[in-house]
Amino acid sequence: MLGQKSYEEIYQDLNNYYSNKDKNKWRNNFHIEMPFGLVNDPNGLSYYDNKFHIFYQWNPFGCEHKTKHWGLVTTTDFVNFTKPKIVLKPEEWFDKNGCYSGCGLVKDDELKLYYTGNVKGANNERESYQCVAAYHKDGTIEKQGVIIEKQPDGYTAHFRDPYIFMENKIYYMILGVQNNELKGKVLLYKSKDAINWALFGELKTNMQEFGYMWECPNIVKVSEDKYAFVFSPQGLDNEEFKYQNIFQSGYVIGNLDLKEIELKNHSEFKELDMGFDFYAPQIFNQDNKNIMFGWIGLPDKDREYPTSEHGWMYSLTMPRVLEYKNDVLYQKPFRKLENLRQTQVVNTKNLICDDYKLKLDSRCVEIILNLDMSKTNFTEVKFKFNDEYILLTYYKDTQICTIDRTNMCLGGKGIRKFKLEVNDELKLNMCIDNSIMEIYYQDGIEVTTLMYFPKEEQLEVQIKNDNRVKINQLYVWNLRSVKYE
Ligand code: FRU
Repeated sequence: MLGQKSYEEIYQDLNNYYSNKDKNKWRNNFHIEMPFGLVNDPNGLSYYDNKFHIFYQWNPFGCEHKTKHWGLVTTTDFVNFTKPKIVLKPEEWFDKNGCYSGCGLVKDDELKLYYTGNVKGANNERESYQCVAAYHKDGTIEKQGVIIEKQPDGYTAHFRDPYIFMENKIYYMILGVQNNELKGKVLLYKSKDAINWALFGELKTNMQEFGYMWECPNIVKVSEDKYAFVFSPQGLDNEEFKYQNIFQSGYVIGNLDLKEIELKNHSEFKELDMGFDFYAPQIFNQDNKNIMFGWIGLPDKDREYPTSEHGWMYSLTMPRVLEYKNDVLYQKPFRKLENLRQTQVVNTKNLICDDYKLKLDSRCVEIILNLDMSKTNFTEVKFKFNDEYILLTYYKDTQICTIDRTNMCLGGKGIRKFKLEVNDELKLNMCIDNSIMEIYYQDGIEVTTLMYFPKEEQLEVQIKNDNRVKINQLYVWNLRSVKYE
């Protein structure tokens, strides 16, 4: 393509980037992102060869949603990463317009990568092929071609994002699809060897009318008899306390009946993240833990991210462990992320004051804040960057939590509102990076992820109540930068 860099130039630019210490102020220190180009969905997440393999959608050529490759970084400790590598390139007839999202499967000492080959015809009509590639320990990749050719009758070519799970020694592949009535659905395929796949059927749920396309499905076992079906539906109407972004990501939990191809007695759809910038999560299992990464970004919202002017866009979330309790999933930063804690700058218990103000030297911090709410109805936490700020408020009587970005000059604005039950204590675990905040509420029953683009670098956190502020616990750590070597 005219004007497009060669792969040699891309690797040269990667090396230059990592050897140069001068970074743009919005570059994140511990969220995975690329030096240039556009990153979206996490893909192929696997623990293989004693390393975490984190693949992701990447257009290394620019900040547009096109020429999707699979990039890869690996790590053992979430502090030291390998430099990004391009693993899948869209250059075969069956994936020429993009190696779209998919999963990883460790089998026979090999990591198999399943993905969707996106093909656009002369009149822009879409074809979708499900493909497989073998990734070897020495880092070589071998594309093995198409395993499912196009969608079955009754469905449109919106047919993508394979995810594999195993049950009674049988492999099942779940795929996002749109039916001919333009409703989002998922299809299951079945295989004994993970090579030959046969259509099994559409998964029955009680969500008959639930958007026009379901992207990035996952099925994971969360207890002895319960499964979470996690997916990203498109086309839900906004409501006051939910579905406030352009597209959603969330889950239902039920009993998976594979004879009837049905998720029985399932819970209501619950979003995984109530913030502004979260989509297309993927889950993998390691050491009996379900670990999830999401994409920090959303389709069709590129204008909200001013980093495109600097040639890069979007990041992945921190890895989050999902724990099943009372029919919901609690999310917690994966324990290994504690390796990022560098110096503890605050360690306070039982502090009572009027307003609490904390000026920080670094914007990359983890803050654990437990606020006494027993005699308080209202509380607010303000993240101030000179004259700009982000505001988090909570009202106990109405159980409404609000996160407000309207007082930032650059980037996406607006308010997100959600319901949160708090009795005597509001518990917040806030992981702040140079342009990302992930806030975990009440042990992770809710999370809000957002991007912010402050003009000034410093951060001051201010806490106010309708009463005196009573801090039960406040811990703050400076977080170190991850390294790519
Ligand atoms: C979700 C998604 C997937 C697709 C990929 C393409 O963000 O649209 O459905 O495979 O992105 O990059």
